[in-house]
Amino acid sequence: MKNRIAFLFIFFQMFTYHAFCQTDAVENKINALIEKMTLEEKIGQACLKGTSSRSKGLSDELKEQVRKGLVGAILNLTDTALVLQIQKIAVEESPNHIPLLFGRDVIHGYKTIFPIPLGLSATWNAAIAEQTSAVAAHESYARCINWTFAPMVDVCRDARWGRIAESPGEDPYLASVLTKAYIKGYQGEDLSAPGNILACTKHFAAYGAVEGGRDYNTVNISESLLRNVYLPPFKAAVEAGSATFMTSFNDVNGVPASGNSFLLKDVLREEWKYDGFVVSDWNSVTEMITHGYCADEKEVALKAATAGMDMEMTSQSYAHQLKVLIQEKKITEEQLNEIVRHILRIKFRAGVFENPYFKEKDSFKILDPASLELAKTSAVKSFVLLKNEKQILPLSTNKTVAVIGPLAHAHKEQLGTWIFDGDKTNSITPLTALLQTYATANVKYAAGLKYSRDESEEGFKEALAAAKKSEVILFFAGEEAILSGEAHSRADISLPGVQEKLIQALAKAGKPIILVIMAGRPITIDRILPNVAAVVMAWHPGTMAGPALADVLTGKENFSGRLTVTWPKTVGQIPIYYNHTNTGRPADSTSFVGIKDIPVEAWQSSLGNNSHYLDAGFTPRYTFGYGMSYTSFSYGDILLKKNTLDQSDSLKVTVTITNTGARTGTETVQLYIQDVSASIVRPVRELKAFTQVELKAGESREIQLSVPVAELGFYTNEGKYVVEPGTFNLWVAPDAASGAKQVFTVK
Ligand code: GLC
Repeated sequence: MKNRIAFLFIFFQMFTYHAFCQTDAVENKINALIEKMTLEEKIGQACLKGTSSRSKGLSDELKEQVRKGLVGAILNLTDTALVLQIQKIAVEESPNHIPLLFGRDVIHGYKTIFPIPLGLSATWNAAIAEQTSAVAAHESYARCINWTFAPMVDVCRDARWGRIAESPGEDPYLASVLTKAYIKGYQGEDLSAPGNILACTKHFAAYGAVEGGRDYNTVNISESLLRNVYLPPFKAAVEAGSATFMTSFNDVNGVPASGNSFLLKDVLREEWKYDGFVVSDWNSVTEMITHGYCADEKEVALKAATAGMDMEMTSQSYAHQLKVLIQEKKITEEQLNEIVRHILRIKFRAGVFENPYFKEKDSFKILDPASLELAKTSAVKSFVLLKNEKQILPLSTNKTVAVIGPLAHAHKEQLGTWIFDGDKTNSITPLTALLQTYATANVKYAAGLKYSRDESEEGFKEALAAAKKSEVILFFAGEEAILSGEAHSRADISLPGVQEKLIQALAKAGKPIILVIMAGRPITIDRILPNVAAVVMAWHPGTMAGPALADVLTGKENFSGRLTVTWPKTVGQIPIYYNHTNTGRPADSTSFVGIKDIPVEAWQSSLGNNSHYLDAGFTPRYTFGYGMSYTSFSYGDILLKKNTLDQSDSLKVTVTITNTGARTGTETVQLYIQDVSASIVRPVRELKAFTQVELKAGESREIQLSVPVAELGFYTNEGKYVVEPGTFNLWVAPDAASGAKQVFTVK
């Protein structure tokens, strides 16, 4: 035994030394290269050039700049021949033969399009996140892309914000779990292995907290809220080894992220010890002039470089101003060397020096059957069943169904936002899939509306006729893809156009309506909720939307998706999220007085004395974590291994889950805690662990959840992380509003 221990000890020492030498060897190569580089070449590495997402060509000017070593990376070059051509210029003709990186937004698939990230988050499945991003990486690599501008990890509590579609939802813990999985999928175990590509965790930071949900807008936020809610997924990205980070367009408390040394230096470098490189978002550096933070391009370059922004995307302040700033000693050459060091370190780790021409790229297939199967599986797991009156779902395949709505056969729209390389001709729509599932004669199709914003009622008649000839109406509603995503915030998040009007007209036909929503955000549906028997949130499900929906609607597959964003009754409730604080006057149903219940000439009083809306109450339509399935589950008593824990302990919880329904299903068991009394008020619930369990009808299983006490803490307004002794509540529940409560103490 002793020999074994000695061997293991020596092996570990050798492994660590080897790793250290590896690192040391890379650092030596970096420093040797920097020694040889001119000032112009160093500045060149800090420049990300390229053109719009639809660019096809390569300008002579760009080739010449690469030949001189004045470019570090290129974005949006999608022609592999051109990529290899310009890489050859960089490797063979530039002064120090430094290869380029080739970046692209591959956000939820390259050619095989998976559900939008908000949909993927609703799977609560890290394996799905990893597998889908691995396929995205392999397909991208096959097209000579070695750097993706993903994952987007911006926590968001505001469904008006168009980019909630790209986000991992409103919870920092779930967002952190998914972030690590995405990065592992993109980067694999070995960043330099063919098929793996660099991740770029974005947008640093707090972009999801823009005022009013208006994109690019200001963010005013306390340090404790920033650290407790918006930074955790970025910290997780550092722990997962994200090769790069991207700064966000917004300012944080008056300082734009691309020039924010608190974020880029104090937090990212000093606290988190990050050693990759930071790229700005598109022109976000020179936008610091528009923000009113810089007077001109020279000040922009000075503030961005001083704050620790490494590579400038598309704007040219570094190319135009850094040399002068160094000559004027406003920036030292060592500061520039540090920027170049970050960039070269990632290039060495990515293996582009040894493999600049994407060897083995042809071994990675595009749209292969396994990828399409994963696209279908991930879509199935992303769907959330929100309503199912009288168990109208699943539908028998013997029924006659009217397939209606602008999203029933919308090849492009079902792909969702950020699908630069997605191809709508590969989409299988719900109509196509239903025609393959039902006898053709049993499917009556009438779109009723040409697109989601359609204001015309000329298609109503045909839709009503189809409804009258059918037993059930499947209404595919929602948003065109362009109505969410970057720069596409909405002040009214109900169904666009006259979709509601058509649903209300169809309701008069007396046939049950199953509403399937494809959208990039929660959609307020209260006005039509009484008219529909079932509601399925499908997000934008991607290439395989049709087969996935046909499988869940007919019961071939069961629902398992759970909401990762709170679903409001009305847009006026926003921001609304589950992990809110209690306030001094929390609303409750016993004291709430609704607007319709106020007596005429009522005495001026505080009407229940609590925090609510007279006309919308105080609860969302559907809470975080909510989702139904074709079966049901019961939760046994919460058993704690210890009720009193010290700081080095872990909270260990055991619960027996039983499938009380008639078919196999997957339950997402969620563990929430509440720090009941602390030095700053804490949320009424915080998700701290979850697990998924698949159970057959009648099957029970004991599950364990464990959370280190060290993870029960929070950051104070002074930026200090503390776990304060005291009483904690915990719930093990199917969503953020349910479950039995248990109490434990931290010493
Ligand atoms: C965009 C987006 C960012 C994207 C970048 C490159 O403006 O904000 O997410 O990666 O530009 O396309």
